[in-house]
Amino acid sequence: MTLNETLKIIKHRRSVRSFKDEQIKDEELHLVLEAGLYAPNAGDQAWHFTVIQNKELLERLNLAAKEAAKQMDIEGLRELGNNEKFNCLYGAPTLIIVSGNEQSPVPLDADCAAANQNLLLAAESIGLGSCWIFFVMLAFYSPQGSELRKELKIPEGYKPYCSAVFGYKKAEVVNAEERKPNLITYIR
Ligand SMILES: Cc1cc2nc3c(=O)[nH]c(=O)nc-3n(C[C@H](O)[C@H](O)[C@H](O)COP(=O)(O)O)c2cc1C
Repeated sequence: MTLNETLKIIKHRRSVRSFKDEQIKDEELHLVLEAGLYAPNAGDQAWHFTVIQNKELLERLNLAAKEAAKQMDIEGLRELGNNEKFNCLYGAPTLIIVSGNEQSPVPLDADCAAANQNLLLAAESIGLGSCWIFFVMLAFYSPQGSELRKELKIPEGYKPYCSAVFGYKKAEVVNAEERKPNLITYIR
């Protein structure tokens, strides 16, 4: 069978870590967000999307996340925290954080991850670069964490679970890692 457009987008999406400075268009942002809202969810849409396009705030989130990373038990995270050149948002002009209601009767991490993946696929489908970013979540565990939550207007009782950056790709990703073979068992 030939690949349809959806399958092509899924196969072609790769994490982009180098972005142009130019901000994405509002129409593009809305298409991406709408795709997030259409993700499957067990918690009756108990999620919230925060769009951050303010350069100064993006840099503060980067720095707070790096500060928190320096205190982590995981050596790789500490190294990144201490690496002056490392920007956990890769200079992308747009960050979207997906938060979930902690009072929800079902765990919201899966709902937020499903939404985050929809954001990435929608971005790819309209030619935007994107990357899922766990690292910046560390900012909420830094000393500035609760201040940042307030500044980002994350609703009371909501926890940030996932995030991703978006922008115009500086270059297409080359040498992307191949998918591993033999990860599927068929029982027929
Ligand atoms: C839960 C999750 C967290 C991730 N966090 C980061 C991150 O903090 N920084 C980063 O550069 N990439 C992050 N990634 C992207 C992965 O590194 C990437 O998806 C993986 O290497 C496969 O490459 P691909 O996205 O190009 O297919 C994350 C991906 C997932 C699913």
